[in-house]
Amino acid sequence: MPPPAGELNIAVVGATGMVGQEMLRILAQRGVGAKRVKALASERSSGLEMPYDGARIRIEVLDENAFEGVDLALFMAGSDVALRYAPVAAEAGALVVDNSSAWRMKENVPLVVPEVNPEDIRDNEGIIANPNCCTIPLTVVLKPIQERAGLERVLVSTYQSASGAGKALVEELEEQTRALAAGSTPEVTVYSHQLAYNVVPGGWKPEAEGYNEEEVKIVNESRKILHQPELRITANCVRVPVPIGHGESVFVETREMLSAGEVRELLGSAPGVIVQDDPHAKLYPTPHEVAGRDEVYVGRIRNDLSASHGVVLWVVADNLRKGAALNAWQVAEKAVEMGVI
Ligand SMILES: NC(=O)c1ccc[n+]([C@@H]2O[C@H](COP(=O)([O-])OP(=O)(O)OC[C@H]3O[C@@H](n4cnc5c(N)ncnc54)[C@H](OP(=O)(O)O)[C@@H]3O)[C@@H](O)[C@H]2O)c1
Repeated sequence: MPPPAGELNIAVVGATGMVGQEMLRILAQRGVGAKRVKALASERSSGLEMPYDGARIRIEVLDENAFEGVDLALFMAGSDVALRYAPVAAEAGALVVDNSSAWRMKENVPLVVPEVNPEDIRDNEGIIANPNCCTIPLTVVLKPIQERAGLERVLVSTYQSASGAGKALVEELEEQTRALAAGSTPEVTVYSHQLAYNVVPGGWKPEAEGYNEEEVKIVNESRKILHQPELRITANCVRVPVPIGHGESVFVETREMLSAGEVRELLGSAPGVIVQDDPHAKLYPTPHEVAGRDEVYVGRIRNDLSASHGVVLWVVADNLRKGAALNAWQVAEKAVEMGVI
């Protein structure tokens, strides 16, 4: 019998970051005992203590020996850290769930959203990748539509919050907003442009043909998770001055005809989805209201007037929870349930 999730020895790598702190909150909420959690970060955080489960947890410095006795290593740091230390953790016998993009597209690494492709967990060789913060909610919503009517084409425009780029941008957004309110010129150091009072269609690493890294991730990862490598999908990513919560405008063309009403009904009973869709009553999800929640919210469901088999959706999720830490934890819970840990 696998141990229940509460009895695992867990390491959180990057425990001082935006996603790492959310992971600590999730572990506390899910009743994981404090002494079984090890909080790791860089030398910079040596000796720091972070809030955890009503108390404080001491940060330890990540090194080659950090994973001795660890059953589950939740990597919530960047790609460099994951590339170097995820194999070390796996070698030490831990199952790794990595939130960076380092391992997502490797062939022997499952990329998992538990509502979409839980069975892929079985193919792991010690490392499971957690998808991008826009890809997760997108695939949670696309999966039931794919199963019912098939996917022909998907167009996504994102409205991504500052926390998606880490704690430094959240702090800069707060400072810029305070400066503007006080009538002074805000400093721009962390991001490519001033984010406060603005909307920025970039800030990610450029890729081929005018796309950027974030857009390419959404395309490739969605195809992998949905097991539809030829899916016609494109993305346009935009950063907005919101602290937490990513919005996505999604145009879906299906193989079989599906009305907006049918999609509303389908998503109304889909796992991990909450439909909030009554524009006359001003009911639709917004990042402000979805921040801190676990589900993927969908509203503004309507037929695409420009396509015979198309629907339009507005999707919102908390990028630090379902878009990152919560999904990683749900992968771990599923792995325990499946006897993989
Ligand atoms: N933010 C999101 O919405 C989101 C969503 C999905 C995926 N992700 C991915 O999740 C990862 C973390 O993102 P974040 O937004 O939480 O970033 P963040 O706020 O900048 O935090 C980065 C964390 O990594 C740690 N770290 C950096 N270098 C390290 C090293 N050499 N050794 C050990 N720890 C090190 C930092 O520790 P120190 O404090 O000691 O520097 C900090 O705890 C990234 O790969 C990001 O792309 C983020």
